Amino acid sequence: MLAIRLLVEPERPDTLVLPVRPGPADDAPARPAPTDVALPDGVAEEAVALVPATRSTGRPGEVHAQLRPGREPGRLLLLGVGEGDEAAWRTAGAALARAARDETRVTLVMPTGVAPAAVRGLVEGLLLASYRFRLTDAGAAPALAGVDVVVADPDAHAGAVETARTTARMTRLARDLTNTPSSVKNPEWFAGQVAANVAAVDVPDLHLRVRGPEELAEEGFGGILAVGGGSACAPRLVELDWRPAGARTHVVLVGKGITFDTGGISIKPVPAMKLMRKDMAGAAAVVAATLGAAALRLPVRITTLAPLAENMLSGSAFRPGDVVRHYGGTTSETTNSDAEGRLVLADAFAYAVAELKPDLLVDLATLTGANAVALGKRTGALYSENDGLAADVLAAVAAAGEAAWRMPLPADYVEHLGSDLADLHSSPDRGAGSVMAALFLREFTGDLRDRWLHVDMSAPSWAEGDDAELTKGATGWGVRSLLRWLGTLG
Ligand code: BES
Ligand code: MN
Ligand code: ZN
Repeated sequence: MLAIRLLVEPERPDTLVLPVRPGPADDAPARPAPTDVALPDGVAEEAVALVPATRSTGRPGEVHAQLRPGREPGRLLLLGVGEGDEAAWRTAGAALARAARDETRVTLVMPTGVAPAAVRGLVEGLLLASYRFRLTDAGAAPALAGVDVVVADPDAHAGAVETARTTARMTRLARDLTNTPSSVKNPEWFAGQVAANVAAVDVPDLHLRVRGPEELAEEGFGGILAVGGGSACAPRLVELDWRPAGARTHVVLVGKGITFDTGGISIKPVPAMKLMRKDMAGAAAVVAATLGAAALRLPVRITTLAPLAENMLSGSAFRPGDVVRHYGGTTSETTNSDAEGRLVLADAFAYAVAELKPDLLVDLATLTGANAVALGKRTGALYSENDGLAADVLAAVAAAGEAAWRMPLPADYVEHLGSDLADLHSSPDRGAGSVMAALFLREFTGDLRDRWLHVDMSAPSWAEGDDAELTKGATGWGVRSLLRWLGTLG
């Protein structure tokens, strides 16, 4: 990960980065952002002339380079930072990481009076856009090793840098887990990665329990066992508990952890299956957010459940028409083994409601292709009966630079969950795929029904190309949003 240093003055940089703001009115020219930092001789005057000469507009993320052969610094980068809010700085930081990928170290001079939130945006943009996945990424690695950020008052920004660094580190962890091929990433491996990262975070009050197939059978986790039954790699249930002294709120996070989704006996066609190694992105996000909360010592209790299974087809796979008995005894009829995510989540919900009794229940899941049909490739589908909880989480999602849209839970559709064989039908084929999945999940929320929030994040969990702070592949969607939201709870 890029090394970020806060400095009070530039240390003879080769490349100096100067922020540019748009003019105060639409037709006013852009200009270098004023700064209290002492610049090398002549640089401030040169920047004033360069802004119009390069046709800089100050738009966030716009970069213009100017070479200065034989002089120090040898290169100036003009970096558009828009109005200087957190989102604009995030975009600018991401653009800088890409524009400076062949430098080894650059120095960025911050404007007068810059807010800690802006520094947070900058650092998150730098650290997220410079992410690459080590196993599959071809091409030369970027040379950029560090960014020096020069501010008049470094101490005022140390906390923002630390929060941004932890947020980015955990988002990158979620991306790594999600990008990993399923030849490596089975349920046992994922649980082992959680254990290794718990050890790496190294804080007291963070506890991990992993249930294997025997314990799952003894305790009646029938959904996880049914979905995982067709695979040579047995399922697991990760239970990660961050239990800081004095916490007043207890949140349970649940993440769908299908390490590969073939569809099972209801097998997916080739195009739909090719990216199904990402079907554990929800589990990766909730685990990474919990590790981040512990690293930041957020004063909220979090129990995170990641039901992990590989949805395969074999002689031991569950079948369409089977009845699954979930944790706690509720049964569901399955007519499509490709609707597996809701079956493993149902067990985790029922366990949380009966045994953990939290204040709030939040789940993230790559649950349906219908998420992208309804909302496109960038926006999660958010469901909750609780207006306050939905508003709080949507605000955190927006502040974090992610996107979600609240969807309905229509009472009229509940009748489609009826079954002749079982308490519930898990995969009624009545359209509204993402909505029906959410309605099925709601049946397992018990007395937490109005304190539950679900995000179907199938679509935004993956980026088809590099774009701002997203790098092609897994996005780590939800880690940033969850950490923002958890940070608001006491
Ligand atoms: N993992 C898929 C959903 C998915 C699709 C995630 C595309 C990411 C990208 C899920 O298990 C699934 O197969 N859902 C089915 C549900 C249907 C069988 C009711 C779907 O969306 O088609
Ligand atoms: Mn599926
Ligand atoms: Zn799936």
